[in-house]
Amino acid sequence: MTLASPIDVVIESRSDDRGDILRLDLVAADGGDLPAFTAGAHVEIAVPLADGTVLERQYSLWGDPADRRRWRLGILLEPASRGGSRTLHAIAKPGTRLRIQALRNHFPLDATAKRSILIGGGIGITPMLAMAAEIAAAGGDFALHVATRSQARTAFLDVLPGFGDRVVLHHDDGIGGAPLVPERDLPAPDEGTHLYVCGPAGFMDWIITSARALGWAEERIHREYFHAEVDASGGAFEVEAKRSGITVTVDEGESIASALEKAGVRISVSCEEGVCGTCLCDVLEGTPDHRDHFLTDEEKAAGDQILICCSRAKTPRLVLDL
Ligand code: FES
Repeated sequence: MTLASPIDVVIESRSDDRGDILRLDLVAADGGDLPAFTAGAHVEIAVPLADGTVLERQYSLWGDPADRRRWRLGILLEPASRGGSRTLHAIAKPGTRLRIQALRNHFPLDATAKRSILIGGGIGITPMLAMAAEIAAAGGDFALHVATRSQARTAFLDVLPGFGDRVVLHHDDGIGGAPLVPERDLPAPDEGTHLYVCGPAGFMDWIITSARALGWAEERIHREYFHAEVDASGGAFEVEAKRSGITVTVDEGESIASALEKAGVRISVSCEEGVCGTCLCDVLEGTPDHRDHFLTDEEKAAGDQILICCSRAKTPRLVLDL
C-alpha cells in the first residue's frame, strides 16, 4: 500500500473539533476514487509554509478504510512545532489543494488477533477510529479506550457513538469517564489479544511499560508514535557513506543526516524525530546507538539498520549503505 507517485487532493470540508483538532475531509483532485488504505495508515502531506519552504508531515487516516471517496484527517494544533499543523489550521478551507507525497502503514492490525484493545490518547485516537471501523466491518472483537484530559478536550464525540458499547471514555478529571488505569482497564494478556496504542510519547511509554509489567508479550503490543523528543547527546563519531565515498564527523547535538547533507550526500528525511521511518538505511559496519521509536526491539538488536535523523553510534565509526 504505497503511492507510485504523489497525488493531488482537494479539501472537501473542514471542521474545528474540541481539543484543538482540525478535521479535514480530502477527495481526489480528479474526482475519482482514492487509493485504498488499511487501518493504521498515514498520509504524508507537503505543507507549504509562508516562507516558501515545504514541510512533509504525516497524519493518520481516521475514516473508514472501505470509503474510497474521501480520506479523513484529524490534525492537532501544535504551536511549538515547526509549523506544519499551524499552517494547515490557518490555510485549510474547502477547495484548498494539497499534495500527498506518500501513503504508508507502519501500524497495521494483526490479522491473527481474536480481540484487539485499542488505546488512543488525545490525538492518538485517529488511527484507532480506522482500526475500530475495520475490525467492526469484519465482525471482530475490540474495545476502544479513548483517553483525554477532559470531555471538553475530547474530539470525535460525534463519531464514537457509532462504535456503541465498545467505547470506553477516560478523562483525567474523572468527569464523564474514569481516568485510565492500565492495571484495571487492560484485560489479562492472552495469546489472541493484541494491544494497540497511539498518543503523546509519555502516554504511550506509560501504557507500554504498564502492559509489559502486566505480562503482555512484546509481539502483541503495537504502537505508533506521532512525535518524540530526540536525544542527540553523546560524543562525536565518524560516519562513512560507502556508496557516496564521503566520510564525516558527527558532533554531539548533530544528526548523522545533517552531517552527511552538509557534505553533499542526498538524504531523505521527513519527521526528523525517529518516528516515520523515511531516513532508514542499512548499516554495513559498526554498531548503531538506536534513539528512534520506529524500529522494533528485535530490529534494533539486529543492528543492521539505522534511522539517521536521530540515532547515533556505539562504535567510533559507522559505515552506511548510502
Ligand atoms: S526522518 Fe522520520 S524517522 Fe528519520
